Amino acid sequence: MDSIIVTGNGPLKGQIPITGAKNACLTLMPATLLSEEPLTLTNAPRLSDIKTMTTLLQSLGAEVSQLQDGQVLVMSSHALDNHVADYDIVRKMRASILVLGPMLARDGHAVVSLPGGCAIGARPVDLHLKALEAMGAELELKDGYVHARAPGGLRGGVVDFPIVSVGATENALMAATLAKGTTVLKNAAREPEIVDLAQCLRRMGAQIEGEGTHTITIQGVDRLGGATHPVVTDRIELGTYMLAPAICGGEVELLGGRIDLVGAFCEKLDAAGVSVEETAKGLKVSRKNGRVRSVDVVTEPFPGFPTDLQAQMMALMCTAEGTSVLEERIFENRFMHAPELIRMGANIEVHGGVATVTGVDRLKGAPVMATDLRASVSLILAGLAAEGETIVNRVYHLDRGYEHVVRKLEGVGAKIERVSDR
Ligand code: EPZ
Repeated sequence: MDSIIVTGNGPLKGQIPITGAKNACLTLMPATLLSEEPLTLTNAPRLSDIKTMTTLLQSLGAEVSQLQDGQVLVMSSHALDNHVADYDIVRKMRASILVLGPMLARDGHAVVSLPGGCAIGARPVDLHLKALEAMGAELELKDGYVHARAPGGLRGGVVDFPIVSVGATENALMAATLAKGTTVLKNAAREPEIVDLAQCLRRMGAQIEGEGTHTITIQGVDRLGGATHPVVTDRIELGTYMLAPAICGGEVELLGGRIDLVGAFCEKLDAAGVSVEETAKGLKVSRKNGRVRSVDVVTEPFPGFPTDLQAQMMALMCTAEGTSVLEERIFENRFMHAPELIRMGANIEVHGGVATVTGVDRLKGAPVMATDLRASVSLILAGLAAEGETIVNRVYHLDRGYEHVVRKLEGVGAKIERVSDR
């Protein structure tokens, strides 16, 4: 298994290109199942999760080809010869559940393995299933699989989500585009990835209003056509790399960065003493003066502070002046980076969903273990600022969501390398 070795090397300087969003691409790809015409995605990220979704779609009979070194995905599913999403693929990536709604809407039947939990929580899919039932789907859970049927096709309905769910909103939105009649999604997720999906579906001929608000209304159509759609910028990759000059000092320009994607996050950076300036090419980030100040964070659905940036923000707070309280309200077990940061000399106390971080003058490099995608990159950020060498093990987690992380950080002066079999 590969490891990444990071050595604290002082202030960073230069530019980091931001790629297309993993979490947008993972819902845009299943949208190809809604149409018999080709769907082309540009600005696609080159990540292992995208490869997993490609394998899943191909297992259903869709054709997926990668052009321009994987930055363009050309997909078509004119005829699906398999309607079973197998456990072996689904267990590797929860987003596989997003083939359920499109397959059911288009062909009236689908069998999808339940994804099972993951490191950060149980992550059930009950809200996905309830939404499809509200559109007339008949569901049966058997042997760890969801058997879904809609013999006469799905029909429009009202889906009132008890809690905000990104994935359930995406599954319901895609399914509703081909349902007979009007569907209203209430308490819908407002993430930019939902907006991006709606824009892509509209290009395919869907009739959708209200994406980005709590209520999305979809008028079903008989069929959808093909489209070409650019994947939206990855706001989590953007926020992650904005923290690199914040934790190390220096000045870094994030190419393609958009301030509207990271509003709440930038408010916290500003309060911590980090300056974010919009430029013609993206966002320029630097520290306003010396050490950053501690700030409190509560993770919430968009437009609140993103849970996917909580681990990375904790790394910054480990080096801040003062004490910060980070409350994780989205997932039940998303502080696994804390014990690893403590190995580096951080002062963190975790009680349930609340972590109290008291900043230290300098973290110390140490061997640490990546446990999930965002935890792994928070350890790299900590290593950038730490004294000495940090070895981050199990970096396969990183490959799921960060393209060329070593190259991008080396490009701004970080001392970082990837080694195998450590
Ligand atoms: C998406 O996961 C993202 N993944 C996650 O990013 C992100 O952390 C999450 O949204 C929240 O923003 C993708 O888009 C592929 P949810 P998702 O449904 O859709 C509970 C990363 O690091 N829930 O919004 O699975 C759930 O357990 C990943 O890139 C139910 O109870 O998240 C959680 O507590 C990690 N029942 C809360 O809702 C359901 O049916 C929010 O989950 C669905 C969710």
